[in-house]
Amino acid sequence: MTVQEQLDDLRRRALADLAAAADAAASAAWEHAYLGPKGELTRFLRGLGALAAEERPVAGRAGNALKQELSAAWTERDQALRAADLDLRLAADAVDVTLPGRRPLLGAIHPVTRMIDDLSEIFALLGFQTVVGPEVETAHYNFDLLNIPADHPARDVWDTIHVETDGTGGDEIVLRTHTSPMQARVMERTQPPVRVVVPGRVYRYEAQDASHEWAFHQLEGLAVDRNITMADLKGTLAELARQLFGPERRIRFRCDFFPFVEPGVDFAVDCAICNGQGCRVCKGSGWLELGGAGMVHPNVLRAVGYDPDAVSGFAFGLGIERLVMMQTGVDDVRAFAGNDLRFLRQIARAA
Ligand code: PHE
Repeated sequence: MTVQEQLDDLRRRALADLAAAADAAASAAWEHAYLGPKGELTRFLRGLGALAAEERPVAGRAGNALKQELSAAWTERDQALRAADLDLRLAADAVDVTLPGRRPLLGAIHPVTRMIDDLSEIFALLGFQTVVGPEVETAHYNFDLLNIPADHPARDVWDTIHVETDGTGGDEIVLRTHTSPMQARVMERTQPPVRVVVPGRVYRYEAQDASHEWAFHQLEGLAVDRNITMADLKGTLAELARQLFGPERRIRFRCDFFPFVEPGVDFAVDCAICNGQGCRVCKGSGWLELGGAGMVHPNVLRAVGYDPDAVSGFAFGLGIERLVMMQTGVDDVRAFAGNDLRFLRQIARAA
């Protein structure tokens, strides 16, 4: 074999072996076998001295050229194999983070707040504006303007929580016992026609039990215009009942007394569970009481500067917790302000 033939043979084998090297370890072994201190090509180059003087330069150039070619080929192949090795290891060591995450705790709208929102929306469609008023009131608005004078026994109907004052005169301060004082506040600052609903918290000096809280929520309704009648009141409340409890619902009025309306009624909706037949929820009566209502008393209209001969109005007040209890079957009013997250989560899903 001539020197050139030897080099060609070496080149062919070296490149074939390199192509066959499958990983970084095989690549390192290849480098050792051909280019290392005792590698085949290194040995060839060292053996050049044994050649005849005229052969040496040609063989030397060819040998060095081959060395450069193989070095370059090896560097490229070695890098590719190392990169592949790294990819394999990364894939093997990877932590699978595609598991379902932990759901963060999200708050929910309190059932009383949601009922207030629902009521506002229903009444907005009936032309009523939602307004709010102060929870700390003067006796003037909570009682006097509502036809309940200071010495009148009717004041005792509302067990009132009083706010301490320095006693140097001025009006008696109370926590409002109902949302009705807003009737007077709204009428004082607006001319008829008036159509408002007033949601909000009210307070009563009262022992707590499953159906009584010392703080709860009401929604007041007031409409004053020419020729407002009891029929408008009944139609409005019937529409409310149908929106809340279904299209079949009917409203019942019974005589009741509130100093600020005449005539006064309490109103009930026929039980949606048994269709008025009588069941556990309506305690066999077929009716669920929602609140008090009536035609605004002429004395109330006069007290805010309205002319009772020119305009008339209806007013109603309903208990908001009661409505939620009817809708959800919750049977203890104390749960609403109890701040027990288990209750709130349960009812947030139920409603
Ligand atoms: N304010 C009354 C109450 O809390 C309810 C009511 C409102 C009655 C409006 C008649 C008219 O008991």
